[in-house]
Amino acid sequence: AAAPVEELSNEIQELLLNLPTEKNWDGTSLYQYQGCWNRSQYVFATISFQRHFQAKESDIILTSFPKSGTTWLKALAFTIVNRSRYPLENSPLITTPPHQLVPFLEVDLYLKNQSPNLEDFPNPRILATHVPYASLPNSILNSDCHIVYVARNPLDQFISHWKFLSGFQDQNMNLVSVVEAFEMICNGVQSYGPIWEHILGYWKASQEQPEKVLFLKYEDMKEDIKLNVKNLANFLGCPFTEDEERQGVVEEISKLCSFDNLKTLEVNKNGKHRTGFRNDTFFRKGTVGDWRNYLTPSMAERMEKVLEEKLSGSGLSF
Ligand code: A3P
Repeated sequence: AAAPVEELSNEIQELLLNLPTEKNWDGTSLYQYQGCWNRSQYVFATISFQRHFQAKESDIILTSFPKSGTTWLKALAFTIVNRSRYPLENSPLITTPPHQLVPFLEVDLYLKNQSPNLEDFPNPRILATHVPYASLPNSILNSDCHIVYVARNPLDQFISHWKFLSGFQDQNMNLVSVVEAFEMICNGVQSYGPIWEHILGYWKASQEQPEKVLFLKYEDMKEDIKLNVKNLANFLGCPFTEDEERQGVVEEISKLCSFDNLKTLEVNKNGKHRTGFRNDTFFRKGTVGDWRNYLTPSMAERMEKVLEEKLSGSGLSF
């Protein structure tokens, strides 16, 4: 039976005391749990998620390092899977933010509640997490559910995250400089970091179990979204029929979920996510290579060296 939240909290308070710690960009503490840096409340939520989540074979788990294209993947997976349930012109995406249609397991559902009611979710359940592969609950690892990961160039991911947090500076968030933050990420210290460990964990899993884990790249999706939409549909067991292809359904889904479309929808321009983030903060620029506007070539070179070393032999590059 599930321990009450209070009890788990005491146990985790004790656990936190023994974990390595570092300062985050905003001066709060990060703790290294199972090799991954995180805020205390997300360590708590991760443990709760690990202990209590029961995967179903039909589940679709969308995974990512924060600011790597999660919102886009949520929109795409939801729309592809539910296309026979909702005609595209009446897609729930038009009136509901992607983060509400596909909640985060640790960030939303297990943060304050050890037994969120997930039974009422329509099947297949589409759920998301930023937890690294190695920290996924056994129930996910041992079931036949599907996992999709989206990876992004770490320099663009960094700038995206940096700009995201800079948007909250007015709320007394004292961030270190971009140079200091960059120094920290080169040492692997950032929420859910090191980023290379995160990416590699899912990359290796996708190589070993290609029928269970699909590895996507933000940059590839920008380059050829139709191909990626088709791959995603095939992987999720709902390939497009010839008729659908002829009718242009792949193009329509790509367009519905595009940055330009989602950003301009009223629902995404206004309102807040339950974590307090404004919905519009999830749609900034949506481009590849924006890091060039913020980082010097020598900073980029430094990260490229780190990545070259860390990803060497994996067959993966950015
Ligand atoms: P930028 O800050 O570079 O613009 P996440 O969804 O994981 O939080 O990642 C956010 C990043 O994805 C932001 O990047 C955001 O603009 C971009 N994004 C959001 N929706 C998108 C879409 N439909 N297509 C492409 N990029 C999108």
